Amino acid sequence: MGYKRFFLFFLFSAGVLFQANDLFSDNLSCLVCHGALKGTYMTRQGVRTSLHVDGEKYASSVHADLDCTTCHLKYQDNPHKSTDQGLDETILGLAQAIQKKSPVDPVAQAACIQCHNEIYLEVKNSVHGINIFQKNETDAALCLDCHGSPHEIVAAAGTNTERGPLKSAVAYEQIVTTCGRCHEQKSVSLKYGFSTRIIQRYNESFHGKKYHLGGKNLPVCTTCHGSHSIRSHKDPQSLVYGTNKITLCKQCHAGANAEFVAAITHKPIGKDNPIPYYAEKGLIILTMGVIAGCALHILLQIYAAIRDAIQYSRRMSR
Ligand code: HEC
Ligand code: HEC
Ligand code: HEC
Ligand code: HEC
Ligand code: HEC
Ligand code: HEC
Ligand code: HEC
Repeated sequence: MGYKRFFLFFLFSAGVLFQANDLFSDNLSCLVCHGALKGTYMTRQGVRTSLHVDGEKYASSVHADLDCTTCHLKYQDNPHKSTDQGLDETILGLAQAIQKKSPVDPVAQAACIQCHNEIYLEVKNSVHGINIFQKNETDAALCLDCHGSPHEIVAAAGTNTERGPLKSAVAYEQIVTTCGRCHEQKSVSLKYGFSTRIIQRYNESFHGKKYHLGGKNLPVCTTCHGSHSIRSHKDPQSLVYGTNKITLCKQCHAGANAEFVAAITHKPIGKDNPIPYYAEKGLIILTMGVIAGCALHILLQIYAAIRDAIQYSRRMSR
């Protein structure tokens, strides 16, 4: 028996013992193994993944009071037998739909709907949800793509000082990085026809520059696109569709009108993105003009000086 196998055997015996022992809470009976398992394993679904769960971080997360089996509804027994028997129909239906996206335990990522029903339906109908639920793709974002590890979620409002040192992946300071994980990937942009340098262009914008200098109340990805009900920019319900943009910019720029709102796009600077394009061209012409003007001015002065010198020497020689 290899050392890894022996270790698992040991863990399973320990798990059985702990389960028989009422001194330990349910979560501890899972953590006795999953707190100790390190490295990656092949699950029975054929996915290579880490099975480690950090009990301390879990205890400082918003879900600390939940039993592991509140989400892992199929894992009521030890060793895991994983049957769907007795599962809620809605959860089972969702789990089947996200099987490809969430292969380790689709039931667990479907189980969020028990408590976050409204949000779940918003996400399902968003551009990201449609990608997963209707197109049967796996490229777009589901809960964990934005919120990070399900065992380490903390409140969105920055660092959660009350409960511990965990950071929220959707906090203002983190959100550009979180959305960027997919939206700065060239393959994603090409496949879905997006601008290829969205993150770079944001970082270079007046908003992005101030944001990276630590500025507060600047618009980030979610300010302009929403978070759970993100739509395609061609969808009339999108915050950035047509005149909706005026309402959006007016939140912070009281005088925003149709011309002003055209200033924001992620397209590379070029003919498709005319304002910065012509602004840049204009600036170049202006600069060249100024340089040419200076040069002419200097030349004329030199000419005048030479002319004066010649006239002076002629007068003197007369
Ligand atoms: C005795 C050790 C042990 C205990 C106790 C244990 N697990 Fe596991 N768990 C494993 C091992 C080993 C694997 C990987 C092999 C497998 O899939 O069975 C695993 C896999 C998993 C997976 C990944 C999906 C899968 O099926 O491979 C989940 C989710 C999981 N366990 C949840 C739990 C929960 C929830 C509990 C507590 C109710 C728990 N485990 C208790 C050892 C344990
Ligand atoms: C809020 C719901 C929720 C709770 C509570 C929860 N989990 Fe999970 N867990 C998930 C989700 C969702 C996944 C990812 C499933 C996937 O990717 O298919 C997951 C994945 C896992 C995995 C697979 C490895 C991994 O990290 O992806 C293990 C093992 C696991 N959980 C164990 C536990 C243990 C042990 C507890 C209790 C201490 C627990 N979970 C509590 C939702 C939860
Ligand atoms: C595209 C990224 C994204 C996805 C996908 C996502 N969230 Fe969120 N979520 C956010 C952001 C950003 C916030 C921070 C507050 C806000 O902007 O609304 C948030 C906040 C939350 C909150 C707390 C605030 C509130 O509105 O009550 C909960 C609960 C939540 N999400 C649950 C979920 C669940 C469950 C899923 C999966 C069905 C999910 N989220 C999918 C980005 C996402
Ligand atoms: C049994 C109910 C329950 C389940 C299941 C559950 N949650 Fe929660 N969730 C809560 C509670 C309660 C809070 C804390 C609310 C608070 O403190 O404001 C919370 C908070 C959150 C927050 C942070 C809210 C904030 O204040 O920013 C997110 C994000 C979140 N849950 C996502 C998920 C995801 C993703 C899943 C599925 C993997 C899930 N939840 C499953 C009950 C649940
Ligand atoms: C100040 C508002 C604003 C911010 C901040 C913003 N966007 Fe946009 N976004 C827009 C507008 C307006 C459009 C429509 C663009 C157009 O009409 O050319 C758009 C379009 C998009 C598109 C689709 C069209 C395209 O050009 O590819 C994606 C994807 C996108 N944004 C992602 C993001 C991400 C990711 C972030 C965060 C880095 C972000 N946006 C930040 C306003 C914003
Ligand atoms: C897991 C990868 C992933 C993450 C994380 C992600 N997205 Fe997306 N996003 C996608 C994919 C893929 C699409 C295209 C879906 C489709 O058209 O089928 C998309 C589409 C969009 C669109 C629609 C663009 C258009 O006009 O067609 C916007 C806007 C958007 N995402 C914004 C965001 C924001 C904001 C965040 C962060 C809160 C975010 N995304 C996080 C993968 C992701
Ligand atoms: C959450 C608030 C917020 C939103 C929403 C917002 N902006 Fe801004 N914007 C700012 C701040 C703050 C500055 C920096 C102002 C400064 O430095 O004086 C700024 C600066 C600008 C500038 C640089 C010139 C100037 O007026 O300072 C332009 C142009 C601009 N924003 C356009 C837009 C457009 C177009 C939209 C809508 C698509 C938009 N903004 C949405 C907060 C916002």
